[in-house]
Amino acid sequence: MKIVIIIPTYNERKNIGTLIDELQRQFCKMAHHEMSVLVVDDNSPDGTAEIVLNRSEKYGNIHLLTGEKAGLGAAYIRGMVHALNGMKADAVFEMDADYSHKPEDVPRMVQALDEGADFVIGSRYVRGGKIPDEWGMHRKMNSRVGNFVARYVAGLNKVRDCTAGFRAIRSSLLRKVDLKGLRVQGYAFQVALLHEAVVNGGRVREIPVEFIDRTVGESKLAFSDILEFVINAWWIRYQSSRTFLKFAAVGASGIVVNLGCFSILLKLDLNKYIASPIAIELSILWNFLFNNCWTFGSRETCTRFSVRGIKFNLVSVLALGISYSSFMLLNLLFPQVNPVVHQGASIVPATLVNYFLNSYWTFRK
Ligand code: GDD
Repeated sequence: MKIVIIIPTYNERKNIGTLIDELQRQFCKMAHHEMSVLVVDDNSPDGTAEIVLNRSEKYGNIHLLTGEKAGLGAAYIRGMVHALNGMKADAVFEMDADYSHKPEDVPRMVQALDEGADFVIGSRYVRGGKIPDEWGMHRKMNSRVGNFVARYVAGLNKVRDCTAGFRAIRSSLLRKVDLKGLRVQGYAFQVALLHEAVVNGGRVREIPVEFIDRTVGESKLAFSDILEFVINAWWIRYQSSRTFLKFAAVGASGIVVNLGCFSILLKLDLNKYIASPIAIELSILWNFLFNNCWTFGSRETCTRFSVRGIKFNLVSVLALGISYSSFMLLNLLFPQVNPVVHQGASIVPATLVNYFLNSYWTFRK
């Protein structure tokens, strides 16, 4: 694989040279891959770029991309677009320049890619991972609260370290993401990209790493980054609930279509046992067409229209089964309650399973 380690820099003159030297030593352990480094420097006033150019003369695999300072996320987006299109990378890394991320961990993360993961996180919050002992209460709280917000507001609860900045991502997954369309400039990028990776079905794996506190220079995290981070998490939540609301609205309209068709077919003197499945199938088709064009219309799905139609039908049958078994169960458990309440309650698990499967399977990007 061609693997590009993207390192955003702003005033990292004292760190970047030695980091590149150390990375070169690590690259020898991964001779079966073509490793290179792409430094994305935002015209650092301290002359970081000079050091990078010096190393690029020394080694043949160091690249420099310069631009105006627009934030950590903006730098990564520029770097990733360049790595994918200009350098034809098969996978990219995100890595800090300040030695917070140990170069010795790179081969373990590459191995995780080799083993099939699409999105490898150098994680501080899985067993074996570690945050620096020197971190004060404030920094610990920042990190913990950030992860809490990402996990429970943005819905990334399966991942332990959502804000990590040490990650390896397969290009096939990255190409499914509209990088330039991500509405983030700063540190919120970490969560925005992770969310896209999960939505696009990426196999996420967390590898324990020890995060080292920088000894030279200072963190560039600003209050505006924290604000953007929180807004982004809520935006992600709003977006996913909006899709769910559309799905529910289509489902409700499907009930009208079902009952309407059933009545018309009965008026046409069709036997009710034949009219019923026809009405059900017509409502499934109705739901499918609206979900395909509207609810999930913005997704470029990887399956053909006809395959999506078959999948949607299968999920609908499963949802019907879930709804019916929930109804039976509720009747058994609470026989004194009005069956209309059971019928209504049984719609809930069926709708959730229906939405989940269609979102992550039928209309998967
Ligand atoms: N090009 C560019 N432009 N680089 C930037 C910018 C920017 O606006 N802001 C920061 N960087 C670079 C830094 O020079 C460094 O190489 C890297 O991005 C990380 O910046 P730090 O300022 O050192 O980050 P941090 O220690 O606060 O945060 C780290 O940990 C967080 C989780 O605790 C990073 O890894 C974050 O990505 C991560 O979320």
